[in-house]
Amino acid sequence: MSHNSSPQIVTAHSGSPLNGQIKVPGDKSISHRSLMFGALALGKTTISGLLESEDVIGTANAMNAVGAKCVRQEDDTWTVEGVGLGSLLEPEAPIDFGNAGTGVRLAMGIFASHPIAVTMTGDASLSGRPMGRVLNPLREMGVQVVARNGDRLPASIRGSDTPIPITYRVPMASAQVKSAVLLAGLNTAGTTTVIEPVATRDHTEKMLVGFGADLKVEVNESGERIITLQGQPKLQPQDITVPGDPSSAAFPIVAALITPGSDVTVEGVLLNEHRIGLITSLLEMGADITILNERESGGEKIGDIRAKYSRLKGITVPADRAPSMIDEYPILSVAAAFAQGDTVMFGLEELRVKESDRLAAVARGLEANGIPCVEKQDSLTVTGGANNIGGGTVTTHLDHRIAMSFLILGLAAHKPVQVDDAAPIATSFPTFLSMFGELGGKLENKNEEAA
Ligand code: S3P
Repeated sequence: MSHNSSPQIVTAHSGSPLNGQIKVPGDKSISHRSLMFGALALGKTTISGLLESEDVIGTANAMNAVGAKCVRQEDDTWTVEGVGLGSLLEPEAPIDFGNAGTGVRLAMGIFASHPIAVTMTGDASLSGRPMGRVLNPLREMGVQVVARNGDRLPASIRGSDTPIPITYRVPMASAQVKSAVLLAGLNTAGTTTVIEPVATRDHTEKMLVGFGADLKVEVNESGERIITLQGQPKLQPQDITVPGDPSSAAFPIVAALITPGSDVTVEGVLLNEHRIGLITSLLEMGADITILNERESGGEKIGDIRAKYSRLKGITVPADRAPSMIDEYPILSVAAAFAQGDTVMFGLEELRVKESDRLAAVARGLEANGIPCVEKQDSLTVTGGANNIGGGTVTTHLDHRIAMSFLILGLAAHKPVQVDDAAPIATSFPTFLSMFGELGGKLENKNEEAA
């Protein structure tokens, strides 16, 4: 995987407006789940629009290692020959999940209720991230775990052949933790219940229902989501079309808003209510964004998003919006650098445990480029409108969204912006550099020059 190879230094230059109509790759969350749920259904699932990135290919390899057959077809679709719930095989070797938190955490849930022993590894970023948030509820269900100090990877688990159904209140806003418990509950006799005090992305719930699981969601009087799953359903293979990833669309949208003369439309983007907090925030900042051709695809709302260069103003982003834009704070911070006044973002504690400590990585990247900001434990204030910004080199810490966000900064800053390693972009958005080239952006890849 490229994040283990030599660093890819890329420099972004300003001066050209961005124009065009583009598609971004398929949604990463839905892509992981399509392969995983396909592996658990008995028979052939077909997937079109799968995100073919390192993280997702890692999940395909992981499912193949436990007996499924995920195969890319000549027409660019993917098929998954699923083995059926309860029939996963023990892998012959440790499974490397690379950079993918979603891949490893959801897979842990799946393996937990199968009587197999699995060792999981990851790159330096993934090996630094907390796994206890998933391993602890799985221990309650009967899983045996051996993990590196502090429940970090590498970790080995032995799934239970008689897992115990639990009721679990998710202690932090995390769709991965919710999903891991639900996925363990799939092959567990009885009712598994997950209580979600703060709503997070609901792809696991929606897609499991689509695959035939008996899963219900209720909202109690305190506004908590109560998700109940009856164990051991017969999952039916599906035909899935993966919509465009709103977290990837965020980059061309913000790039258009901050680069004078730009007008960009991103087609076929997922508009799930738990994923569009960034659009809400940008509209509050005065962005010229319109949503066109709203339609439904595979049980999800999708649409085309048009963004034109805009004069933005600073806003306060409330903490309760964080789950619906959790991956978008780095790029919102870049938009904030071009807004008049302060943008204050609250409720950012989860950013500390992403692919990097994203709160610190964003703050250091802004500072390196002359953009005033104040980092607190769980908030960030960015003061927009500074003169003569850019000129810095940003440390990306194996974090794709840090790399992409600061390249966008460079497309509109007064001076070029360099990122120390753009290779991790391949984990989620392999066509990023070429797509910005097509829109008119100047992204200079030092490695290509040298080759
Ligand atoms: C994801 C959930 C989020 C998000 C990640 C994808 C998912 O992580 O940051 O990129 O597909 O469930 P958390 O569950 O840690 O919030």
